[in-house]
Amino acid sequence: MFHQKRHRICKPPSPARWETPWLQLYYSSLAPYGDHWRNLRRVAVLELLSSNRVQKYRGIRMDEIRSLILRLYRRSSKGGEFQVEEMKSMFFELTLNVMMRMIAGKRYYGEGEEELEEERKFKEIVTETFELSGVTSIGDFLPVLKWIGFNQIDKKLIALQRKRDGFIQSLIEERRKLTNDSYSGQSSKTMVDVLLSLQETDPEYYTDDIIRGMMQVLLSAGTDTSAGTLEWALSLLLNNPKTLSKAREEIDMEIGQNRFMEESDLGRLPYLHGIIKETFRMCPVSPVLVPHESSEECTVGGFSIPRGTMQLVNIWAIQNDPGLWEKASEFKPDRFVGPEAVNNGFTLLPFGTGRRRCPGESMAMGLIPLTLGSLIQCFEWERIGEEMLDMSEGSGLTMPKAQPLVVKCRPRPAMINLLSQI
Ligand code: HEM
Repeated sequence: MFHQKRHRICKPPSPARWETPWLQLYYSSLAPYGDHWRNLRRVAVLELLSSNRVQKYRGIRMDEIRSLILRLYRRSSKGGEFQVEEMKSMFFELTLNVMMRMIAGKRYYGEGEEELEEERKFKEIVTETFELSGVTSIGDFLPVLKWIGFNQIDKKLIALQRKRDGFIQSLIEERRKLTNDSYSGQSSKTMVDVLLSLQETDPEYYTDDIIRGMMQVLLSAGTDTSAGTLEWALSLLLNNPKTLSKAREEIDMEIGQNRFMEESDLGRLPYLHGIIKETFRMCPVSPVLVPHESSEECTVGGFSIPRGTMQLVNIWAIQNDPGLWEKASEFKPDRFVGPEAVNNGFTLLPFGTGRRRCPGESMAMGLIPLTLGSLIQCFEWERIGEEMLDMSEGSGLTMPKAQPLVVKCRPRPAMINLLSQI
């Protein structure tokens, strides 16, 4: 069925338009609804982010969480004293390692390892991407400026995109060579391997351009979102120490202190899930969903919307609306726990809804609760001062905390025996 449809795929933009970095995303998460988007969505949902594949990468998530725990343990175990840590970069490195290992079988962040040239290049690209991600291109609003060559940001974006494309292409070549040399078994297949086998069956459609686009979208959609959510969740807990203690009690009761938490334990930790849901509600990392467009004329809230109108859904406003949520400004994970738990309907939408809903939800829900739960199980956490943490939002592609989270952390005495065995 897919192959019959292939001939009706939306025509991609002309080569000149590919030069504009934002438009390179055209063939992925920003692709308009149509056959082309449907095909890519099918690949994302059924091949790359299916529950089966998410399960296969379970070991990678576990492994990277252990590395994070070990790193914190080594740094904070000296004399059992509290150590001050900046958490956002740790969460970011964790999620980037997880994503890169699933996508291309590589990890670039770790302690004590000598930095290789490839690692240096990767980190440079990541830094530049973040420096430029929040910048608005004035030429998008005043195209005349582009014609007179005024737009410096576009130039920087184009140079960055070339660098990024070159790097990602080298990863594809590496996997291609490996796959040709000794075909890696199904269980150790990376996402690039999956895409390369699709390329073998249909090389005209699954070009390297398409594979690069998919890789970039997965990396950008899957990394900062999860890292940001972890930072918000831990910050909320530090401002609500009773909730933190309650979460630890649940973990101690269900898992104890003789083994580390595993993904299979998550189903027995409803309070931990309540904390994650409440974090999504109060601090959604995508407060305004990706722009949608009405495919037909329609009516929303009594307003008539013409066909082809861009619509921005402000989920932050819905999720923090006192008319929809009792005590909306209070952090209350209990609202999601037990028989009286609120039925969210369309009032809690951190992953969007409908056909463009986030396909990475189960991946994120494998990583985020396990990371947060493991940190609660293994360490004691405190604010660096008496005053509450500043919870204001900064600006960026995903909603960051304006002030990066800095905390005091030390291993729990009851866990030291286990931690020292990692
Ligand atoms: C905390 C974690 C995450 C949150 C809150 C989140 C949220 C979202 C939201 C709100 C959208 C747009 C939905 C819409 O407009 O209706 C989206 C789209 C998307 N997300 Fe996620 N996401 C997360 C993690 C991930 C992960 C881990 C991946 C992949 C590994 C991923 C891949 C994608 C992709 C590919 C799209 C585009 C879907 C399309 O246009 O068809 N996301 N995400």
